Formats: sequence, C-alpha cells, structure tokens
Amino acid sequence: MTILRGFETRIVMQPPLRRPTVDPVAFSQERDLEKTLRPVTLDEFLGQPAIRDNLRVFIAAAQKRGEPLDHVLLSGPPGLGKTTLAHIIANEMSASITSTSGPILDKPAAIAGLLTNLGEGDVLFIDEIHRLSPVVEEYLYSAMEDYRIDILIDSGPNARSVQISLPPFTLVGATTRKGLLTSPLRARFGIDFRYDYYSADVLRQIVVRSADIMGVAITPEGADEIARRSRGTPRVANRLLRRARDFAEVEHDGKIDRIIADRALDALNVDALGLDDMDARILMTLIEKFGGGPTGLQTLAVSVGEDPGTIEEVYEPFLIMEGFMQRTPRGRIVTPRAYRHLGLKVPDVTSQNKSGGPGLFDG
Ligand SMILES: Nc1ncnc2c1ncn2[C@@H]1O[C@H](COP(=O)(O)OP(=O)(O)OP(=O)(O)O)[C@@H](O)[C@H]1O
Ligand SMILES: [Mg+2]
Repeated sequence: MTILRGFETRIVMQPPLRRPTVDPVAFSQERDLEKTLRPVTLDEFLGQPAIRDNLRVFIAAAQKRGEPLDHVLLSGPPGLGKTTLAHIIANEMSASITSTSGPILDKPAAIAGLLTNLGEGDVLFIDEIHRLSPVVEEYLYSAMEDYRIDILIDSGPNARSVQISLPPFTLVGATTRKGLLTSPLRARFGIDFRYDYYSADVLRQIVVRSADIMGVAITPEGADEIARRSRGTPRVANRLLRRARDFAEVEHDGKIDRIIADRALDALNVDALGLDDMDARILMTLIEKFGGGPTGLQTLAVSVGEDPGTIEEVYEPFLIMEGFMQRTPRGRIVTPRAYRHLGLKVPDVTSQNKSGGPGLFDG
C-alpha cells in the first residue's frame, strides 16, 4: 500500500519484507503519466510563490545580460517539484538540459565527459547532489566557479594535468538532504531555493489541472478532499487522484466527487489529515514503545522497519510541519497533538517529569 509517494526511492530502500510488489507495466505507465502532468513553464508551476517570483526576476536579468543563469540549488522533501523546476529553468532560458544524479557520477571521467559536452548556456541538472563523491565534487568546484576543469592525462612519470575551459553553463542541483552538502559546494550556488509544503488551496488547483489533463471529471469537493489529504505534496496529490479515478471508474460513473475521493483515500489508508500507515506507525511506536520519546533516529528506524534516511527525508519533515513530532537534541518526541489525533489520552506532563519520563514538551 505504501506505493503512494517516494515510490522510486523506497523501492531501493525498503527492507525486503515490506517491499511492495510492483507491476513493471503499471509502474512505467504511472511514470509516463507523471511526466505528462509535469508543468513545463513557470506560469504553469503553481505554488511556491517565493521561488517562482524570484526565479522570474533572475531569469529575466540573466537574459537581459545575455548570460547563463547563476547556479541553482533546489532543496526540499521528495515530490515537491525540484526536477520539474530544473526542466522549467532550462525551458525558460531556451537552453538544453542534461540530467544526471549524484550516485551515477562516481568517477571524475564521468563528470568531465558531461561538462565538456555542454553547450553555451546549457543546464546541467544533478539530482541527489548530496550523494556526489568527494573527487567528483572537487571537479565541480572549478567548473562552477571559473568554467574550467583540470584533467589528468596519462599516469606514472608521464602524468600531466591539462586545463580545459568550458562554456558558461548553469548547474542546477537538487537535494532532499541539504544538510549533507559540504559548505564549499553549497557556497558555489548563487541561487538557493528551499521548498515549502504546498497549501491545500494550491494542491486543489494542481489536482484540478491534472484531472483536466487526464480527462477525468472531478467536483470541487472531490478535488478538495484529495488536496487536503496529500501531505502538502503535488506528487502525492497526483497519485491519489489516479487512484480516486480507479474507484470512480469501477464503482461509480467515472466522476470523482467527495464520496468517491473519501472512499479511495480510506481504502489507501490515508487518514483525514493525510497521514498514511507509516506516519501512524512512527507516531504509535514513539508513544507505545518509547513513552513518547525522546528516541534516537536509528532506534526509531529499527523499531518501525524503515530506512533511517527515508524517515528523515520523507516522513519527519511532514510530521514536524504538522506539529505531530519534534526533533530535539536528545531525540524525536511526539507532541500532544499526535496523541489527540490518534485518539489517545495526552499524558500528564507533571507526572511524567516526576518519573523522569520522556519530557513531552521538551525542545
Ligand atoms: N508546482 C507544481 N505545480 C504543479 N505540479 C507540480 C508542481 N510541483 C510538482 N508537481 C507535480 O509533482 C510531480 C513530482 O514533482 P518532481 O518530480 O519535480 O518532484 P521532486 O521534488 O523532483 O521529487 P524527488 O525529490 O522525489 O526527485 C511532477 O510530476 C508534477 O506533476
Ligand atoms: Mg526529482
């Protein structure tokens, strides 16, 4: 059931027991649809007003000067539109885009090959840029700063370094873990955008737009229901929309109204606020096994059977943003709101402190 979001990441990371069975054909169809739904211009990119408005100015200014856009770093949780924006940037700059990702670029030769093939003003998009190897990262420093790289030719006594100059280009880096970026790399990005989760209002517009592209009828209430339960994430909204469409086609007249949306979301175990199985499991584990915390990330991860990185990247940011959980120096703790949402009694703070308990309101 957890094929709702972070799908790609989680196929790799999930422990074998919880790995969902994936039909490769259905999977590739879903991916194709995700591409079709992707906005291609800045005007179509909804929400994230701070990013959009600033980007518009930076792009206009760069175009006026006839220069490539400064290097751009995009950071934030999965599914909020980082890859989408990288393509929009290239499109708005009328530039070609070459896409790669941190883990693929394992050798200096790989990055040197990409860089030397760039044309003037092109965009090089590096996804998961926090996963670059240190040697490859070093190469990027001079490429980003001075548009040149030093390549080592030959080995042994004949080894010599040759400097190659590159055309001015724009590096767009995307990361879900900005904290893992080294400071020299971070410092070389002139533009640094951090994504926020989307409001239900913007998500509703995204759902309506996607439904329109997919040719599926949806009522305002149906769109609203999906938007409210999408974890502030367009990718989740689109995925829930597709599942709601399945229910609408099989159990209804094909139109998604509030009842059908509700029915689909319940069937997918998405609760009234958009929390899914794993969100609930994380909160329940903290409460039942650790008295509400504080609990270290590793311990929590083992207890819920999920990869610590996935918890940190995918689940925690949303739980923290919604006020269900806090990250303190001593570990993760749940908030009174989490108890209430799960229908549990909020523990008495004074008795907890007396017993040396979890310190519910710490941090
Ligand atoms: N601002 C937006 N307006 C409309 N649709 C959006 C927006 N942002 C994202 N989407 C939709 O959400 C989907 C996921 O976005 P995208 O792949 O860009 O996320 P991402 O941040 O790169 O995720 P990941 O970290 O997993 O790579 C896109 O296919 C697109 O349809
Ligand atoms: Mg992406």
